[in-house]
Amino acid sequence: MPRIILLGPPGAGKGTKGSLLCDKYDIPGISSGDALRSNLEARTPLGLEAKGYMDAGELVPDSLIIALVEDLIEKADTKNGFLLDGFPRTIEQAEALDVLLFGKSLELDKVFYLRVTADVLIDRLAKRRICPKCGEIYNLQSKPPKEADICDACGSALIMRDDDKPETIKKRIEVYDEQTKPLIEYYAKQDMLVEIDATTEIDEQVSQMSDALGEG
Ligand code: AP5
Repeated sequence: MPRIILLGPPGAGKGTKGSLLCDKYDIPGISSGDALRSNLEARTPLGLEAKGYMDAGELVPDSLIIALVEDLIEKADTKNGFLLDGFPRTIEQAEALDVLLFGKSLELDKVFYLRVTADVLIDRLAKRRICPKCGEIYNLQSKPPKEADICDACGSALIMRDDDKPETIKKRIEVYDEQTKPLIEYYAKQDMLVEIDATTEIDEQVSQMSDALGEG
């Protein structure tokens, strides 16, 4: 019954590995980034407010994100566990999560820190393509679609994310270093952190995480 956080810089592969882990353990994946993009697509007030921050590579304010993720966790079927991707991203968000989980008598099992250097991230994000319909993630180099620019899973035309422009990528990495990296120590102190070399093969990383969860 794994309750997992995936922590790591933009492009570390949180979405890619998160989706495989969710399938493997039959748990819901709760991605703050995906939820924001869905809100934007639906042109909700939250989505429209978040857009400016996302396009600039900045974090969306804690108050908005915490309310959003709390709602997603409340609505998700978490009987088998859950996986958080991209949340928490600040100490304030981590503390809010602690309070929420305490109130539900739930404890986290592991926080996987996906470690990658900035040069690898920039290259990966520049080559990332996503399916706007089903959310499948591709990479022109490491995971190309079978047919150029077409989603293998649903046949939709693939797109580049708006925040994958080189100048925005640079800003997102800076913001990660300043605001999200302190969470590594936060969770290490709670003895929950497991560091994963996120430059190895995707399947290898998933199997390391499964071993750490003790659920092979
Ligand atoms: P979000 O959508 O969460 O973006 P991110 O954290 O920047 O992470 P990415 O989705 O870019 O990367 P990823 O780690 O999931 O990598 P992926 O699997 O795609 O957030 C977007 C924005 O929303 C933020 O900038 C912020 O404004 C806002 N936001 C979201 N959450 C927030 C919060 N909690 N608080 C405040 N604001 C928030 O992989 C990347 C590429 O690499 C892919 O092409 C993939 O195929 C490839 N790849 C992955 N692993 C490997 C591997 N091992 N080898 C080779 N290629 C690989």
